[in-house]
Amino acid sequence: DAPETVTPTGAETGAPKTANSQQGAFLTTAQGLRLYDTDHSLKAGPRGPTLLQDHHLREKIMHFDHERIPERVVHARGAGAHGVFVGYGSAASVCKAGFLREGVSTPVFVRFSTVVGSRGSADTVRDTRGFATKFYTDEGTFDLVGNNIPVFFIQDGIKFPDIIHAAKPHPDREIPQAQSAHDTFWDFVSLHTEATHHVMWHMSDRAVPRSYRTMEGFGVHTFRLVNDAGETSLVKFHWKPKQGVHSLLWEEAQLINGIDPDFHRRDLYDAIESGAFPQWELGIQVFPDTPDQTFEGIDLLDSTKIVPEELAPVQPIGLLTLNRNPTNFFAESEQVAFHVGHLVPGIDVTDDPLLHARLFSYLDTQLTRLGGPNFHQIPINRPHAPVNDMLRDGFHQDAVHGGVAPYRPNSLDGGCPFHAGAADGAFVEVPQRVAESVKVRESPASFDDHFTQPRLFFQSLSPVEQEHVIRAFTFELGKCYEQAIKERELRVLAQVDARLCAEVAAGLGLPVPEVAAELPAVTPSPALSQLTGTWPVA
Ligand code: HEM
Repeated sequence: DAPETVTPTGAETGAPKTANSQQGAFLTTAQGLRLYDTDHSLKAGPRGPTLLQDHHLREKIMHFDHERIPERVVHARGAGAHGVFVGYGSAASVCKAGFLREGVSTPVFVRFSTVVGSRGSADTVRDTRGFATKFYTDEGTFDLVGNNIPVFFIQDGIKFPDIIHAAKPHPDREIPQAQSAHDTFWDFVSLHTEATHHVMWHMSDRAVPRSYRTMEGFGVHTFRLVNDAGETSLVKFHWKPKQGVHSLLWEEAQLINGIDPDFHRRDLYDAIESGAFPQWELGIQVFPDTPDQTFEGIDLLDSTKIVPEELAPVQPIGLLTLNRNPTNFFAESEQVAFHVGHLVPGIDVTDDPLLHARLFSYLDTQLTRLGGPNFHQIPINRPHAPVNDMLRDGFHQDAVHGGVAPYRPNSLDGGCPFHAGAADGAFVEVPQRVAESVKVRESPASFDDHFTQPRLFFQSLSPVEQEHVIRAFTFELGKCYEQAIKERELRVLAQVDARLCAEVAAGLGLPVPEVAAELPAVTPSPALSQLTGTWPVA
């Protein structure tokens, strides 16, 4: 029998490790040891020195010292929300994915972000915005990792480190933070004219959204859908906000950056908290899956091109509602890990060379950012579909796997070989013929036209919107130190639109350039050159 003076300890004496653990009856160490004081370190007398034996002090400081994880290498600043996606069923003819069927309701987590700025940068900067959605479907997690601009700066992902190095702050001064107003950015985009289309959107009102709630979203790449009969189509994904598309004026954006750098984050949180749940319709543009993967002369594998909605209307396939704020920013918005390779049966990738680099990049970067290979076990990243993988051990392993034979087939744990019919309900890659060609480091000629779509974009804007674009180019280029870079960018603009170029040149106090002979000639695609109407977005 225990002597009367000894009190048995038990789980009830410690606070459970839940989200609210700091509200337990007692404060404890990480080991569950009950504490009576957390404000004074253990010292040899009130004036010290401090004693090394104070485990609570060492544990508390050690953990604090390691609270930060690396911020995302891009899209570091963002905010997320939970919601639900309900399929309309209208995609059934082209896609067999269960979550798109009529009335099927799927939990989602969305993270909006800027691209260039660091985690603590301001919200209303001129930048592209990320719009990443995680659908926790019954068939596995599907991630649609898009932006609020439908095209991208580069055609081949091998240039991604280069465009990001150019857009991030200068390596010597670490300025500017999240602005396009610097030499390296303009140096890069004037030397890589494939960036011109994205730059036009970037200088437009689209790059200063009023709110995350008033942004469109785009999957950018072309994806391949598969229906129940195994037939394939090529598609581009679009998010259309029920709130409409609204932007800030540049002057408003500047003021808000100073007054409330958390403007977009606060706006999203407050809207959801007050019950004004933002909604977006998911839509697709559908193209026939032809061997050349082009549509009306537009190369569908070139992520610097859109397909105008006059040529392929966006057809709604479901509704997204964001209705719940995260309760822990770090656990949800910070630890969420999206990946363009998270697909479900019915949705596959195409050979877009930008997309292929992304398929490598996201897993790779998350390995570092989230500290090892088990980040799929972090609560926000856990699939809602049953998981039966054979991934074992590793840093931050949370699972206690049973069984003795994590390989297949095995004769010990009932892990029998895959059987006939195993492909039913499984993700099966579309059996695409791979081009019978030699290895090359080059792009197809269909990637060469860098100016027709930027011109279409500019010429379809309203006069006020055009004026905003002209002022944006003038302001941002005006911040460059190198005159040669401004002149080179003016030569690019000369090939987009003569008036745009002339007005920006006048604003910069520079002569209107002769179009430089070394710049590639423009070969407009037939379908695009016929389009003179309004810009196709809502
Ligand atoms: C992060 C979109 C191109 C590498 C992100 C995020 C979005 C996004 C929305 C933020 C995800 C989040 O909220 O956690 C896009 C789009 C692209 C594109 C739409 C082009 C169409 C690329 C390319 C690469 C790349 C070409 C690399 C080759 C990354 C990396 C991250 C990231 C490393 C950080 C991921 C993390 O730390 O979790 N991208 N991206 N992206 N992207 Fe991209």
